[in-house]
Amino acid sequence: MRILVVGSGGREHAICWAISSSPLLTKLFCAPGNAGIEHEAECISIAADDYDALIVFCIDKAIDFVVIGPEGPLVDGLVDKLGNVGIKSFGPTAAAAVLEGSKVFAKDFCIRHNIPTAAYARFDKAETAKAYISEKSLPIVIKTDGLAAGKGVFIAETITQAMEIVDRIMIDRVFGESGKEIIIEECMIGQEVSFFALTDGEFVLPMITAQDYKRVGNGNTGPNTGGMGACSPAPIIDDFLTTKIVSEIINPTIAGMAAEGRRFRGVLYAGLMITDTGPKVIEYNVRFGDPECQALLLLLKSDFLSALIAINDGKITNVRLKWNDDIALCVVMASKGYPDFYEKNSVINSISEIENDDVVIFHAGTSWDRERRLLATGGRVLGITAIGKDITQARKKVYSAINRIDWPEGFNRNDIAESALNL
Ligand code: AMP
Ligand code: GLY
Repeated sequence: MRILVVGSGGREHAICWAISSSPLLTKLFCAPGNAGIEHEAECISIAADDYDALIVFCIDKAIDFVVIGPEGPLVDGLVDKLGNVGIKSFGPTAAAAVLEGSKVFAKDFCIRHNIPTAAYARFDKAETAKAYISEKSLPIVIKTDGLAAGKGVFIAETITQAMEIVDRIMIDRVFGESGKEIIIEECMIGQEVSFFALTDGEFVLPMITAQDYKRVGNGNTGPNTGGMGACSPAPIIDDFLTTKIVSEIINPTIAGMAAEGRRFRGVLYAGLMITDTGPKVIEYNVRFGDPECQALLLLLKSDFLSALIAINDGKITNVRLKWNDDIALCVVMASKGYPDFYEKNSVINSISEIENDDVVIFHAGTSWDRERRLLATGGRVLGITAIGKDITQARKKVYSAINRIDWPEGFNRNDIAESALNL
């Protein structure tokens, strides 16, 4: 089969890496891809949001199946657009991707279907939002309704901070139309877990879980990022919790979406807080997590592409996913300054010698220059990923690889999964 993967991050590298070993594959393309993805796929210079060009490419190259990595194209309806010209793809339609595209929709949906989530209120006027905040206890969480590249969520510790955030979102419109409406919600306390389930819109196939380390600094300090590391499975999840999450959150979500005429096909990623009163939805995503996907796919023993195709063909009940029982860890190396301003185009020296059977380096913001030097072109740049029989072993493999990476302009957290060592 001729496959196109859409996207250019570490998640898409992991997806290409997993698909590249499939017996079903004849040719793999990635649009636009990155320097590392070139190893597994032919990268084509079409942006992930250039939908017309992607469709022309798929028709020209007789693509059989498209796997879409990021949320933007899903929310914009790339699955629908491809479907209109008879091309199959993995992911939800725009009607179903609204679960991530609008936090207002997602929160109201949870209430309609009795799915546990933080108490909240929605506002389209700054004045009423501020009046509400002044009556609530702190800290309080403020979120833009629409997509904001992972930057539209704020945890305000003081009233002044909260008021400033409302002004920036609703008056200054720093997130444009995404900030037309906001959600203000209770701050939940607990451990976060990323829960992934493949689904055809009727049946659900839970995958393994992951824990994402979102803050930029060691000890969970500093601003939120897209994710500085991941550990799979999530250390705090056991069979009891998994069953509870599936029955109280995942199944009602998929059934609710079908009942509302928004049948959800693809991967549902529920961002959960495991609170004292049980698991609650923080947010829904309609695609794999990044860097969770990198850790998760390293543990998958079954053929990934066959599973995606079978699900798309309505044969999900035939799919059995086999997982390695070990632990996988991904530690992200990012450009110094990320998630704020960072310099581009610094040179990363010699990483090919570091990669071996035990350590896989997934690329995100990388490209080659004319002399075939590897350049860092993005915020998150490399995902150093390894499997170990336990967290200690996985950490040892990942961090000893990182110590050998010669990239002075890069940094990483040193404590990914460290807290889990004491569980
Ligand atoms: P989201 O984009 O909604 O997943 O939010 C980004 C991050 O903000 C989450 O991963 C949490 O760490 C944090 N967060 C969001 N909503 C809440 C909440 N209601 N209570 C506590 N933390 C939250
Ligand atoms: N790692 C968080 C996300 O992919 O949204």
